[in-house]
Amino acid sequence: MTFAAEKPTGTKREIFHDLALQAEGLFRGERDAVANAANLSSLIFTSLDDLNWSGFYFLKNDVLVLGPFQGRPACVRIQMGKGVCGTAAARRETLVVEDVEKFPGHIACDVASRSEIVMPLIKNGKIVGVLDVDAPIHARFDAEDRKGLEHLAKLWLDASDI
Ligand code: SME
Repeated sequence: MTFAAEKPTGTKREIFHDLALQAEGLFRGERDAVANAANLSSLIFTSLDDLNWSGFYFLKNDVLVLGPFQGRPACVRIQMGKGVCGTAAARRETLVVEDVEKFPGHIACDVASRSEIVMPLIKNGKIVGVLDVDAPIHARFDAEDRKGLEHLAKLWLDASDI
């Protein structure tokens, strides 16, 4: 097991390529979903600039329940269809929100959040949770972030028993 000592640098594409390699390294030989989620939320939070929250919600009895994360304490339960997280899960699609104040029903866990991206986590056709990343600046996430984060989410899904 190796741990990165420094933040990856370069273009977004290069940074996400580096992060994918690091995630694969962290997941190698480990199939525990919570442990892998904890490491992935930390990897994202400590490697990318301008973030204030990065973490998982897991679907339990039709409710999204807070999982491993980095950042300030957050709301524990989110109903399907509610907030950005519940909407991404219900629609089964990634949501990129440039301005959270303009998203109807946005749940403000951290008042610092200005923009947000939420990836649904789908395993064998079933929603198992979401990966949520928040930023304290407007329109933080572009198409390259979406592609890179969706790839990291897929690596977690493939590597973990859930
Ligand atoms: N903003 C999210 C809630 C989760 S926190 O951002 C960590 C939402 O609207 O679903």
